[in-house]
Amino acid sequence: MSQPATIDVHRLANVDYVTLNRPEVRNAFNEDLIAELTAWAQRAATDSALRGVVLGGAGPSFCAGADLGWMTKMAEYTQEENLRDARAAGAMFEAIDKLPMPVIAVIQGAALGGGAGLAAVADIVVAAEDAIFGFTEVKLGLIPAVIAPYVLAKIGRSAARELFISGRRFDAAYAREIGLVHAVVPAADLNDRVNKLLIELAANGPDAMSAAKALLRKIADLSIADAAPITAKAIAERRVSAEAQKLMKVFLKK
Ligand code: COA
Repeated sequence: MSQPATIDVHRLANVDYVTLNRPEVRNAFNEDLIAELTAWAQRAATDSALRGVVLGGAGPSFCAGADLGWMTKMAEYTQEENLRDARAAGAMFEAIDKLPMPVIAVIQGAALGGGAGLAAVADIVVAAEDAIFGFTEVKLGLIPAVIAPYVLAKIGRSAARELFISGRRFDAAYAREIGLVHAVVPAADLNDRVNKLLIELAANGPDAMSAAKALLRKIADLSIADAAPITAKAIAERRVSAEAQKLMKVFLKK
């Protein structure tokens, strides 16, 4: 398989380090990046050796969202072609959102538009204290669209309405306040924080972590009553699993 050109992927200790690699345009998404990131995520989803993902961006910024050079060319595309591209972008966010293993996003510089959307499909987001975020699409006459369901699920309707309509850029502290970011550290400490998180995650049951992710996805839009049979089945299955039995016995022996 040929090496992707727009992302860099290397595996270390069963973790894929995936780096958006178009720093000259602040890792903006074009067709190639969308296709390569989607293809990687679809392969990763069925890779039972993979225990985690660290998603980052090369250069000064994590990701500047859609490639505006590419977007302006879209005026010449037919509606069908525009829909196809939008669906491709949607499929990329969905593929990352659905990954069964923990996904950590590491944000330096800017995460704007789809870049902030990528943060929304990660499980744990660590940001540099001087990072900036924004759903800036309306400033360009666009809207945050395919990312909207994921962002809404993370930050809720109140913050989403204000940020989608104002297009305002906001800092890492505010991103943490609204739940888009989980930890804010000095830029120089980003790697250290990620390594600590990976150590913490490595002690957990990998199947349990995927089951927890899958359960949250299943019950996200359900009432407590509708979720009840699903949650009961999920824990009943986990309790008797070899992984849970082993980890509980290790705890009891300590
Ligand atoms: N699409 C295409 N090119 C982009 C881009 C984008 N979304 N964002 C940045 N670039 C390009 C710039 O045009 C510039 O190209 P040049 O070197 O040929 O002039 C290069 O990346 C560096 O950008 P610059 O603004 O000089 O870098 P910076 O580090 O000072 O700032 C950002 C980085 C991301 C804060 C700033 O580029 C920015 O605000 N970009 C717009 C992002 C945006 O509105 N995204 C929403 C898309 S829906």
